[in-house]
Amino acid sequence: MRRLRKDSIRPLVQENRLSLNDLITPVFVDERIDSRVEIPSMPGYYRYSLGEVAEEVGKAMEMGLKAFIIFGIPSVKDETGSSAFGKGDVVQKAVRKIKEEYEDAVVITDVCLCEYTTHGHCGIIRGRKILNDETLPVIAKTAVSHAEAGADIVAPSGMMDGMVGAIRKALDGEGFEDVAVMSYSAKYASSFYGPFREAAESGFSFGDRKSYQMDFHNSREAIREIELDIMEGADIVMVKPALAYLDVIRMARERFNHPISAYNVSGEYSMVKAAEKLGWMDGKSLAYEILVSIKRAGADLIITYHSYEIAEMLQNLK
Ligand code: PBG
Repeated sequence: MRRLRKDSIRPLVQENRLSLNDLITPVFVDERIDSRVEIPSMPGYYRYSLGEVAEEVGKAMEMGLKAFIIFGIPSVKDETGSSAFGKGDVVQKAVRKIKEEYEDAVVITDVCLCEYTTHGHCGIIRGRKILNDETLPVIAKTAVSHAEAGADIVAPSGMMDGMVGAIRKALDGEGFEDVAVMSYSAKYASSFYGPFREAAESGFSFGDRKSYQMDFHNSREAIREIELDIMEGADIVMVKPALAYLDVIRMARERFNHPISAYNVSGEYSMVKAAEKLGWMDGKSLAYEILVSIKRAGADLIITYHSYEIAEMLQNLK
């Protein structure tokens, strides 16, 4: 076996490769700030103001990154998440600014209510119940408002049943047949989202997300979730988180021919950064190895906070 492991030959027989074309970079836009603020639990990652966001995307594009998923932190929240879908709200403004300056950037928007509701849940509530069908028109309206602002792809992350169908129908009805849907199809109720909730201030005030996000004891259920989303018109399906869910990515790869994305989530990033800070492991090579393993499991696209580091790494290899 060692005959093919010489430095010169190894690249010839490499089965999987990570490319910047595979990566989607998360961008946090905070309506309340004037200049960027570092996220304490995500060293090296920032929230940007509306004034800075386009420039930041421009810098990332110069590094070779091409696709971005936008998360908004609004200045006002209420019980029904009404700052999620206005023309002048944070995500809509950010998308317009980015598209005005960088038409070629692939702009994806996270479609959810948790950043916009005072209770922090991903849907409309009655008492302590998160309502499914009452939430659908609100997220459909949100998706349309993102499309109007110029989003190329909308990414519903709330795990409401029927969300993809409702969004597809609304987009088509408003003349946005061209806007694609990347669904967070198999999204697990996970402790790995902790740092994100600090980043997006989307922690919830009661209960947990287990009545809508998946139980991590299950994997066949993920296949049913993905199947439903495909039937409802999803163009890209997602498994989230990634690193502890490589088996699910692999199962999905074997069953479906749709592009599969994997979300290398905030907690996965923070673990690497913590180990790096302590001097226990080399953060960059860890990140690279993790991302390659996600590809090897079968993901086509990876949403990751490591994309800047990977861009630097791949640049230096050239
Ligand atoms: C919104 C949303 C979350 C993430 C992406 N979209 C948080 C959650 O469901 O609690 C998590 C991303 C990450 O941890 O990096 N629903």
